[in-house]
Amino acid sequence: MPEIRTDRLLLRSWRESDLAPWAALNADPVVREHFPEVLTPERSAASAAAFQADLDERGWGWWAVEAVDTGEFIGFAGLDPVEDGLPFTGVEAGWRLARSAWGHGYATEAGRAVMAYGFETLALPEILAITTVSNVRSQAVMRRLGMTHDPAEDFDDPTVPEGPCRRSVVHRLHRQEWRRTG
Ligand SMILES: CC(C)(COP(=O)(O)OP(=O)(O)OC[C@H]1O[C@@H](n2cnc3c(N)ncnc32)[C@H](O)[C@@H]1OP(=O)(O)O)[C@@H](O)C(=O)NCCC(=O)NCCS
Repeated sequence: MPEIRTDRLLLRSWRESDLAPWAALNADPVVREHFPEVLTPERSAASAAAFQADLDERGWGWWAVEAVDTGEFIGFAGLDPVEDGLPFTGVEAGWRLARSAWGHGYATEAGRAVMAYGFETLALPEILAITTVSNVRSQAVMRRLGMTHDPAEDFDDPTVPEGPCRRSVVHRLHRQEWRRTG
């Protein structure tokens, strides 16, 4: 399975030692502010296993992210097909980091690397990113990556229970635009 290296990060396979920090990250109400609920350790472990199964099968997906200088697991980033039931199809980019890893530019650095992987290696014509209207930090990452948002595309995510996390925005980046802006 390909790994992705950046100046400060390694996007790699999931390891047994990631499970405890992954569970802690998903139990943090601040990290989960824009999701319907925090996750139990069991659900966190199941998600890591599912992510690794996708990486094994396809060679790409939600990679575990490690900070190179400390060797510490800090979260995930990657690409995944858009969930069924949404008003559009395609491949989305995503990121979720432990709170201690916010404010260092890591999500944007990982995002740039997965965009390059998606456009150059997978030859995707377009990459999407989806989040709730309230998740301004994630939307800032999307803008830093050169993605654009059309408010006419805002939608109620049918995969999310009724509530404040349902109203969602989609950002898009076309391969030509990515090439043009470098
Ligand atoms: C979304 C999320 C990954 C964004 O993290 P983030 O730290 O805000 O984003 P980045 O990693 O790109 O870091 C940018 C910040 O680092 C700062 N920074 C510090 N050093 C930097 C460097 N060397 N290079 C770039 N930026 C740097 C930037 O100035 C910016 O600060 P600001 O937020 O005060 O403007 C994080 O908030 C998160 O994990 N949230 C919970 C999960 C989630 O909502 N995921 C998205 C669901 S769609």
